[in-house]
Parts: sequence; structure tokens; C-alpha cells
Amino acid sequence: MDVEIRPCASAEEVSHAITPIRYYFGRTGPDENQTEQLIRVLPAERVYAAWEGDRAVGGLGAFPLQLTVPGGRVPAAGVTVVGVLPTHRRRGLLRGMMRALLDACHQRSEPVAYLWATEDTIYGRFGFGLASFTGDIDLSRERSAFHAPFAASGRVRLVSPAAAEEYVAPIYDRVAGVTPGMFERSSPWWHNRTLADPDWRRGSGGELQCAVLEDEGRPSAYALYRMNWAFDRGLQSGAVAVIEAIGESPQATGAIWRYLLDIDWMARVRAGLLPLDHPLLLLVAEPRRLGFSLRDGVWVRLIDVRTALSARSYRPEGSVVIEVADQFCPWNAGSWRIGRDGVDRTDDAPALRCDVTALGSVYLGGFTWTRLASALRVQELASGAAAHADTIFEASSAPWCPEIF
Ligand SMILES: CC(C)(COP(=O)(O)OP(=O)(O)OC[C@H]1O[C@@H](n2cnc3c(N)ncnc32)[C@H](O)[C@@H]1OP(=O)(O)O)[C@@H](O)C(=O)NCCC(=O)NCCS
Repeated sequence: MDVEIRPCASAEEVSHAITPIRYYFGRTGPDENQTEQLIRVLPAERVYAAWEGDRAVGGLGAFPLQLTVPGGRVPAAGVTVVGVLPTHRRRGLLRGMMRALLDACHQRSEPVAYLWATEDTIYGRFGFGLASFTGDIDLSRERSAFHAPFAASGRVRLVSPAAAEEYVAPIYDRVAGVTPGMFERSSPWWHNRTLADPDWRRGSGGELQCAVLEDEGRPSAYALYRMNWAFDRGLQSGAVAVIEAIGESPQATGAIWRYLLDIDWMARVRAGLLPLDHPLLLLVAEPRRLGFSLRDGVWVRLIDVRTALSARSYRPEGSVVIEVADQFCPWNAGSWRIGRDGVDRTDDAPALRCDVTALGSVYLGGFTWTRLASALRVQELASGAAAHADTIFEASSAPWCPEIF
């Protein structure tokens, strides 16, 4: 039977479209409530399905996000719920859905797509470049001392997640607004995703907890976490599972982490999705004890090179000409002059040559041109061109996306 790829037109069609990815989580189709929650943040027309008759055998969606980039924000498609049933894999259904999505983004001037990948090998062929690394920690509380005595200012109080938005959202907004990789969270996002605590997310862990640090009555840091308690022959062996801990200043970040690291009954503190420059790595006296382990972070696709690159800032060190190859979105191919004065097509000789994936890698500031050139992902056509491009693209912090969407 033929397969037709088209966007969904109703909540019911969305339920069908997300059934393939749910299959891989060991589940059947969603109930009405789950679909309703999803479409509050993911409109039906932004969900694509591969239909075989009246059954979706593949699906893919794209949250409408505002992504922070160095010096600005850009509309971005947050690609999600990508799945093709095992009965229909490797017949080009993902390719077809990605084609439909990127063409639609291009038409509606959404110049960037970004995502978390379950495997590194899936998305490069569609022009996504690895844009950040991220790290997990697993720390024994007994070895969690800071490098110097720390006097936390302010007080931590526990807030019910259902009532937490008014405390945590302003902190998140202030940090997300200046941290490349983070995106704006709407109230429905907080309600239906970040602060929701469905059983399937909890697994065998405790309920979602929220702690807010207040300094002179003003919230300045928060932590979302679970208490996963356990005892082994009378000895504590459980762990605090930190979902998200964000402070708006070094002092507030230190204080909320000290709170998490000092919770009684817990033997360990675990956290994931931390940026490579997270302060904790230097805050603790024994960084080795963090067991910081690296994995790929977000992947970025520039759908419209000119608009995407124009949305971020550059240092005033002139400009660089880069020749870009882009097989999947050929409208981007060609030479671009990039710098503080703008991003434009040019006939001038390029100094660097790369695939569009390399632009995705440098976009948020996670990787430098020099680093990409040393890994044979960029070709230097003029001596010193990568180092010069680095002075133009320089970003002040590592990208951070604290949640998988
Ligand atoms: C990943 C997945 C969506 C791919 O769907 P698909 O319809 O089989 O992919 P396509 O047939 O369109 O493949 C397009 C290309 O990607 C390649 N590809 C697809 N999935 C791949 C994978 N997991 N690893 C390596 N290559 C992969 C195909 O070989 C094909 O290569 P080609 O262009 O050189 O021929 C599907 O296997 C799946 O649902 N996996 C489990 C859920 C999952 O991981 N989803 C992704 C969430 S981020």
C-alpha cells in the first residue's frame, strides 16, 4: 500500500502520528488527555505523519520555539516525536517527513531547526550539525565539599510543582534569555511539560519536587528533582535525581547546588544535561568525583543560512567568506560573507569551505572553526582563516539546553 506524508489536521490525527514513537517506549497510542496536553504546545499542523490508509506508520513534529543564540533569539523548529514503526523502517519515511518539515519551515521563515538525537548517525544527512556537548554527573554526597567554605545567602523553601511556575519561570527567563541553546518556555510549556509529573516520567523514582532559593524575598535559583530513596542493610544508598537546577548568579547557583548536595538520607546526587562550562565543575573541591561524562547535546540545522546567521551577533573583527555545501536544502549552497555588517552572498574567494552541518556546529558557540578544521569538518582555503573566523564568531559561554524535548 502507498504511503502519503502530510501534516495532521486534528487532535485525533496527532494521536495517530505519535503512536510510532510511543511504540519504541513500549506503549500503545496515547489517550485523549495525553494528546490534548501535547497539542497545547505542539499545534496539530506542525505534526507530520506518514499515512498508510488511515494508519500512521511514521510521525514527526516541530515545537515552535524561540531559541537563544549568541546575542539574540531566533524562531526555531524543535524537532520531536520522530518515529517510524519497525515494520516500515528504511523505506525513506523519515527522509520524506524531514523533507516536508524543512520545506514548510523554509516557507514560513523559520530559519533554524534543532533537536536531540537518539543516535548520532541519524540527522547529519539532513544537514544537522552537532552543536553542543553535555555532561552527566554522579557524585557521592560525602565527596561533595566545595573548594572553599561557602555561606549560602537566602533561604530555600519547598514549593508544590503545581504552584511553582510563578517562582521558577522568571528565573528561567532571565537565564534562558542570555544562554545559547535554551528556549523560551510558555506557560502551557511549564504546565504541560516541565512541571507535569506523570507516572511514566517518574518511573520508579519519587514525585517531582521543587525547591526555590529566595534572597531577601526574591527568587534567585530553583531546583526540580526527585528523591529516589534506598537503603542497603541499613545504609543509605539512594540518590537525589536533579532534573533542572538553575541560578541567576554564581552565588545563587552555588546555594541551590549546596542545598541539593546536603539533603539527608541520600548517598549520591545525579544530574544530567549540564553544559561543559557548568560552575559545579570548579565549585567542588574534587572535580574528579563528579564522574562528569560526556555525550552529544543538541543538533542544529540552519534552514535559511542568511536569516539564521543574521540572528546572532559577531565580534567586530571584520568578516569571513565561507563556501557552504548543502545537499538537502540546496538554496543555501554558495559563498557567504559573514560578519558584524551582515550576512550576504558573495562572489569573493572563500577562506573556508564546509558542509552546512559545520555552520550548525558553530551556530550556538559550542564549537570553534579551528576545532572543526582540526577534526577535518572544515577545509581552510586561506592560511589562518579558521582562527580569524573564530575571532568573529566568538561566544562567551557554552550552549546549554537543560531539557530533552
Ligand atoms: C530513526 C528512524 C526514525 C529512521 O526512520 P526511517 O524511516 O527508517 O529512515 P529513512 O528510511 O528515511 O532513512 C533515511 C536515511 O537515514 C538512515 N538512517 C535512518 N535511521 C538510522 C539510524 N538509526 N542509524 C543510521 N542511519 C540511519 C537510513 O539508512 C537512510 O540512509 P540513506 O539516506 O543513506 O539511504 C526510525 O528507525 C525509528 O523510528 N527509530 C526508533 C526511534 C528513534 O530513534 N527516533 C528518533 C528520535 S530522535
